[in-house]
Amino acid sequence: MRASVTANRDYGISKIDDRLYGAFIEHLGRAVYTGIYEPDHKTADANGMRKDVIDLVRELKVPIVRYPGGNFVSAYNWEDGVGPRKDRPTRLDLAWHTSESNAVGVHEFARWCEAADTEMMLAINLGSRGLDQARNFVEYVNGPTGSAWGDLRKKNGRAEPFAVKHWCLGNEMDGPWQVGHKTAHEYGRLANEVAKTLRAFDKSLELVVCGSSNSDMKTYPEWERMVLEHTYDAVDHISLHMYFANRGKNTAEYLALNAKLDAYIGAIASTIEFVRAQKRSRKRVTISFDEWNVWYHSNVQDREILGGAKGWPHAPRLLEDIYNFEDALQVGCILNTFIRRSDVVKIACIAQLVNVIAPIMTEPGGAAWRQAIFYPYYFASAYGRGEALQLSVRSPGYDSEVADNVPYLDIAGVHDEAGKTVTFFAVNRHGGETLDLDVDLQGFAAARVMDHQVMTSADLEAVNTLKKPLTVAPKAGSGAEVKDERLTARLPRHSYQMIRLALA
Ligand code: AHR
Repeated sequence: MRASVTANRDYGISKIDDRLYGAFIEHLGRAVYTGIYEPDHKTADANGMRKDVIDLVRELKVPIVRYPGGNFVSAYNWEDGVGPRKDRPTRLDLAWHTSESNAVGVHEFARWCEAADTEMMLAINLGSRGLDQARNFVEYVNGPTGSAWGDLRKKNGRAEPFAVKHWCLGNEMDGPWQVGHKTAHEYGRLANEVAKTLRAFDKSLELVVCGSSNSDMKTYPEWERMVLEHTYDAVDHISLHMYFANRGKNTAEYLALNAKLDAYIGAIASTIEFVRAQKRSRKRVTISFDEWNVWYHSNVQDREILGGAKGWPHAPRLLEDIYNFEDALQVGCILNTFIRRSDVVKIACIAQLVNVIAPIMTEPGGAAWRQAIFYPYYFASAYGRGEALQLSVRSPGYDSEVADNVPYLDIAGVHDEAGKTVTFFAVNRHGGETLDLDVDLQGFAAARVMDHQVMTSADLEAVNTLKKPLTVAPKAGSGAEVKDERLTARLPRHSYQMIRLALA
């Protein structure tokens, strides 16, 4: 089967924002406790953070990490996590029916971000709390000393403001499961007032308002219209979330789901344009897709833990999806969608980063390892920076429940002018046939293949585990070549490829 593509140096979609490869860490399960933080671990640093995990996060080159939730944030008091540890209260976490020791708070997380070479994006509780606590939190984190909150931060060990630029105004406020769930009107009014107040403190903050929790919500996309009508002038981004699952064990349907993601992004891009026109505004609000991933493998186990919840365990094994090779293909397709929609998606966060629906897993007191989905995320983050190319793709396709004529070839291309490279990320969705890929390289003279990595597996359900951490991993590919300004490569059935070309 053949698939042909045209890539032209002059036909770009957008400069990709580095924040497209962000991630998320919530106080949930073992994301923080025995995930990033384990003071007794043999690799722990002076901050109690696992150095083996930090090394894996650095490998992923994560530009920004959203924290501390998620549903958790909607009943979180940030004050509980600052000051001497011995004085910090243990609280019941209403979102996940666990207990929160508050051993890690904003100071410890900020130090972790420094060690992991990433930026902190903070979420504010607009569920159980409101405007006053929001402004106090921002002032504590970013305010000058010489005022009460800045002085308290100094007393707690940090004189310099943390200078956090990105702030999420609540989390999934459209969700009936959320503590403090609101209607679009209630939330829009509150978010606008909070945004105005935070801007009075610092105009340069980047503020993210909540969109829908997913595109199946009954209130979608009316929610976005109403919330943006309230907040358009005061915010910078609207947040979207989406999780993917193969419940019916149908790989073709599963791998078509990024068409639904694409439609979701398209609908909200249009809603933004609608409100922009209505407001006669020059400003462009963009999308922060700050929760996305595969999430379903752990559902049964979670129901048992949460449904039978007796007591309030600290850091139980919640949402610990073990990802398989098929999920790696899915994550490759999702990231390709973000690259292709990088004109409007400026921030995206894989949810989450460690242990909880995550590319990185840890054993308490033991090793940390890479899940199957680690690799497509790694390749996109490492090599997907530059200008997203507007590829013209001709590929055979198939009809699915979410879209007609889903191409067997899912591909994105990125041109890094400064680094003199062009990189293609390609998934062959076909379960039985090899795709013969032929890319017409226009304006990329003297290109040569400098790296070709392939992920294939005879078993779609192959996984990496503590005992066998390397079952699913990329291998050097062969046979990709550039001749007469055409790149040709054979993409095996159900495979992921990263092909990087050096330019003269
Ligand atoms: O990432 C897990 C949960 O998914 C988050 O807490 C919530 O925002 C979403 O529903």
